[in-house]
Amino acid sequence: MVGLDGRNAFVTGAGGGIGRAVVRALAAAGANVAAADLSEAAAEDSAAEARELGVAASAHVLDVSRPDGIAEALDDAAERLGELSLGATCAGVIEVAAALELSERQWDRTLGVNLKGTFFVLQELARRFRAGRTDGRLVAVASVAGRSGRTDVVDYAVSKAGVISVVRSLALALAPGVRVNAVCPGVVDTPMTEAIHSHRSAETGLTVQESMNEITGRIPLGAMATPEQVASVIAFLLSDEAGHVTGQSINVCGGLERD
Ligand SMILES: NC(=O)c1ccc[n+]([C@@H]2O[C@H](COP(=O)([O-])OP(=O)(O)OC[C@H]3O[C@@H](n4cnc5c(N)ncnc54)[C@H](O)[C@@H]3O)[C@@H](O)[C@H]2O)c1
Repeated sequence: MVGLDGRNAFVTGAGGGIGRAVVRALAAAGANVAAADLSEAAAEDSAAEARELGVAASAHVLDVSRPDGIAEALDDAAERLGELSLGATCAGVIEVAAALELSERQWDRTLGVNLKGTFFVLQELARRFRAGRTDGRLVAVASVAGRSGRTDVVDYAVSKAGVISVVRSLALALAPGVRVNAVCPGVVDTPMTEAIHSHRSAETGLTVQESMNEITGRIPLGAMATPEQVASVIAFLLSDEAGHVTGQSINVCGGLERD
């Protein structure tokens, strides 16, 4: 397991399937964790799980799509835990809609949370790393959808392609002091995946389980990822073990995408 003793991490979407696993992975590696989520209860639960692993943790209500709240949340986290040096952006939303039915409202919401929200959280963290001359590390959660496109979540795929691009640019802008990477999960066993397949099953007539089996059948390793399998790659990218890795987007998709 990687070691993150003495580090303080800020995690968005910390109450969701992947975010919660990231909070646990970082806490298990010894980092103190600030758990931020739109949902106060989810952020609190996630912080409580980190404390059970023996580290300090704080909970923060934050809507990442409203950048004016980000600095305040980071100040609060730094006051409670100490100077931040790690960041993981896991907040994200998805709505299923055929490409020709996609509305402007949905486009703006998805890009507001997934792309704008990710960028401004990373920017605000990086400003602090620079000001404190901290060797900070950042990881954003993108998606394989951002590489190859999707017919019924076009806005989502665009937002994740944007995250991959943000990571490339910030890695250049912040080198050599700060490393910035992304993970691109394929299909992960979380509430988001269940929601997608509930929607698709209404369209296709398949049950939710049949719809999930259909996608799982296309994954070379034969299963969805667990949130923990995504979180362990994020913890690695945030650790010294990934000391020469920056600007990369690493697929964690069981071979579904190979580029
Ligand atoms: N589940 C998958 O198969 C999968 C695949 C690829 C990428 N991803 C990405 O992984 C990330 C986590 O997804 P998940 O599967 O854990 O989903 P999830 O729905 O379980 O968790 C998402 C979390 O983000 C929070 N959130 C939503 N909007 C927010 C906002 N405006 N501000 C702050 N928090 C907000 C939610 O409250 C929730 O806790 C997302 O970026 C998602 O796009 C997921």
